[in-house]
Amino acid sequence: MENPRKVKILFVCLGNICRSPLAENIFRRQVRAARLEEYFEIDSAGTGNWHVGEPPDQRMTQTARGRGLALEGAARQFAARDLSHYDHVFVMDKNNLHDVLYFDQEERHNGKVRLFREFDPKPDDFQVPDPYYGGTEGFENVYDIVERTSKRLLDRLIEEYDLDAEIKERTTRTRSATDASNGGRDEHHA
Ligand code: 4NP
Repeated sequence: MENPRKVKILFVCLGNICRSPLAENIFRRQVRAARLEEYFEIDSAGTGNWHVGEPPDQRMTQTARGRGLALEGAARQFAARDLSHYDHVFVMDKNNLHDVLYFDQEERHNGKVRLFREFDPKPDDFQVPDPYYGGTEGFENVYDIVERTSKRLLDRLIEEYDLDAEIKERTTRTRSATDASNGGRDEHHA
């Protein structure tokens, strides 16, 4: 089967140790559950460089583990080339939006940079609150926000890229291939 063109998605926050790695891991799990992993390239980055190379924050990891999700990845800093590489850049708050758009002075890529919570059915102020300097409940709140927003985002991308049609086509192709090989085996045994 030909390799489909992947939709390239980047999640961005400040440190790349709390919100955006959570979004990356939750979105990836939802994509896998929908059996769509071959259609997506997914990553996350931070606008700041303080935590580069570090694993996700202990408290975020703990919260995710409590919901049955293992957080993976190491922090990296957002770079200008990410703007050309990715099809969509979803930022967690308005500071991230400002910092990412700073790399796009010629406004060539601004259409692909959006606030993640635009997809939240309950968007509040359209920002995922920074949990870093707060308590546990802040991390739990971030998890709830990111989980429901990510689900809606995936639904919208499935629509935008007509991935339901892709899945149907793939199922039909697999079926005909199976039928063909079964047919061959039946003949052989006959
Ligand atoms: P994140 O959270 O942007 O969701 O990864 C933060 C992580 C680190 C810092 C701030 C926010 N910091 O100031 O080091």
